[in-house]
Amino acid sequence: MLRPWLPADAPALVEACQDPALRRWASLPLSDEADGLRWVESQRQGWTSGDRFSFAVLEAQHLGTHRQLLGHVALKAVARGKPSAEVGYWTAAHARGRGVAPRALQALADWAFHTFGAHGLRRLELLHQLDNQASCRVAEKTRFSFDRVLPAAPPAFPLDGHLHVLCWDGARARGVLPRASGRPADPGRPAHDDAGAVGMA
Ligand SMILES: CC(C)(COP(=O)(O)OP(=O)(O)OC[C@H]1O[C@@H](n2cnc3c(N)ncnc32)[C@H](O)[C@@H]1OP(=O)(O)O)[C@@H](O)C(=O)NCCC(=O)NCCS
Repeated sequence: MLRPWLPADAPALVEACQDPALRRWASLPLSDEADGLRWVESQRQGWTSGDRFSFAVLEAQHLGTHRQLLGHVALKAVARGKPSAEVGYWTAAHARGRGVAPRALQALADWAFHTFGAHGLRRLELLHQLDNQASCRVAEKTRFSFDRVLPAAPPAFPLDGHLHVLCWDGARARGVLPRASGRPADPGRPAHDDAGAVGMA
């Protein structure tokens, strides 16, 4: 299940960020709960400003009232009338290898085109460093097609990268994207519980 990040997610977020792979590939150096809360607040601001829409990826099953944090997906660089936006994602180390990122990304792409297609969104871009093969597999599984090699841009991007794209013709994305179950979140109004959640296939 996807829903906007909440302050209550901060402890699990910080725990996930201690993983070296996540620090390396997702550049998320969060050390303590205060860092986590600041990061969650920055995600809330993205919803308010309308240029970044990020979601916590949570286990579908409740453990009491608690849902375990599995990962993160985000729609970035969004602007009204702009035909393209970027996607980003990570999966907590304990949840890798279960197809969490591809399913969450598929739900995000479906939500993005159905929410912003009327404002001109037609293309999602996925960038990863050349040696991040797990990320390349996520792109392949979600039918983002390989577009081109991007040259390194140190220090942020020390190695060449891949650009993958997913296009939408106004009716369906090239590469099948099943309609996400669940009601799309209202952009600009983050939910404060499971309301506004987006389902994963
Ligand atoms: C890339 C990443 C998001 C994949 O997420 P995921 O939910 O594990 O996705 P999948 O289960 O589909 O696995 C994708 C690939 O990861 C690799 N993988 C599988 N199990 C794994 C495990 N336990 N640990 C690490 N990688 C694993 C495999 O290459 C797999 O491809 P395959 O299914 O063809 O074997 C995750 O590895 C991650 O968060 N990495 C660190 C952050 C990152 O790289 N973000 C993307 C930046 S562009």
